[in-house]
Amino acid sequence: MSVEIREPRADEAALIAELINEHANAAFGETEIAEAEVRHWFGMSDVWIRVAERDGQVVGYVDAVQRRGGAVELDIRTVDREAAAALLAAAQEHASPKPISMRVVVQGDDELLRELVEADGWQPVRHSYQMRIELQDDLPAPGWPEGIAVRTMQPGEEERVYEANNAAFADDWYFQQQPFERWRSDAFGREDFDPTLVWLAEDDGELAGFSANSWHFSGDPRFGWVGILGVLPRWRRRGLATALLQQSFRDFRERGATRVGLGVDAQNTTGAVQLYERVGMYVARRNDTYEKRLS
Ligand SMILES: CC(C)(COP(=O)(O)OP(=O)(O)OC[C@H]1O[C@@H](n2cnc3c(N)ncnc32)[C@H](O)[C@@H]1OP(=O)(O)O)[C@@H](O)C(=O)NCCC(=O)NCCS
Repeated sequence: MSVEIREPRADEAALIAELINEHANAAFGETEIAEAEVRHWFGMSDVWIRVAERDGQVVGYVDAVQRRGGAVELDIRTVDREAAAALLAAAQEHASPKPISMRVVVQGDDELLRELVEADGWQPVRHSYQMRIELQDDLPAPGWPEGIAVRTMQPGEEERVYEANNAAFADDWYFQQQPFERWRSDAFGREDFDPTLVWLAEDDGELAGFSANSWHFSGDPRFGWVGILGVLPRWRRRGLATALLQQSFRDFRERGATRVGLGVDAQNTTGAVQLYERVGMYVARRNDTYEKRLS
């Protein structure tokens, strides 16, 4: 029987998490997502989500979000070739009005999706890394630049961090500024959100940099995640991001983490990849962004 594309039902989050983990185990050899994370995606009004079903079984997942420069970016997870093709076709058909381009991220060793998009004429345009550090006991103490004070985020400070985030990422290739509420829900709206994991660095009361940390989306309580790291242009190249990372690593270690990860554009123009390597992180996974120009 052929594959049918449909909207997921609210009670299918666990099933979708299972499917995504099946894909993750095939493409990266590890579990990726907890059910709570899929429920979080369901709550985002501007994310278009569909599943592929065959014989009553959910066999594939796709979501689509608007990105910078009029692009629509797809995230397809399946180990089923026919489902992948059907999801890709449905997403292209859905995108209306027609975007300038469509992108799809081929994660890790997902050769099935890579072959499919390459055969369909999509071109690789950019890549990103997931970088990690395995935490040792002798982590260096952060060396804060002069005049910088650090503390965790207090209730009501979300909008300050939002403004700082927009300023820090203004030139980032993947960055698309979002309305505050949408950003807040993405950055701080998860069920397990803990503001004491969000570090703010201030210079005389001004927000100079921040590290918005959380636990990894797999629900692994030993896997810390640096969701967003930003330093405002005025305070760059003084060791602030290095200190924020060292602070985060020590904080996670004290809370029982054995590893910390983050995602980064491989061609980040502010030297983020080198910075992460210098603090002991390594490339754990490479994701390739493919693009199809539509106009
Ligand atoms: C990437 C980013 C967080 C780095 O912040 P930062 O505070 O400038 O980082 P650091 O100062 O710790 O390190 C940056 C460089 O300054 C150098 N540096 C550190 N202290 C220094 C000092 N006192 N004097 C001169 N240079 C110094 C570091 O050696 C490093 O050099 P490198 O680029 O050759 O590796 C910041 O540029 C940023 O917010 N970029 C935009 C957002 C972004 O891309 N975030 C990361 C995406 S995941």
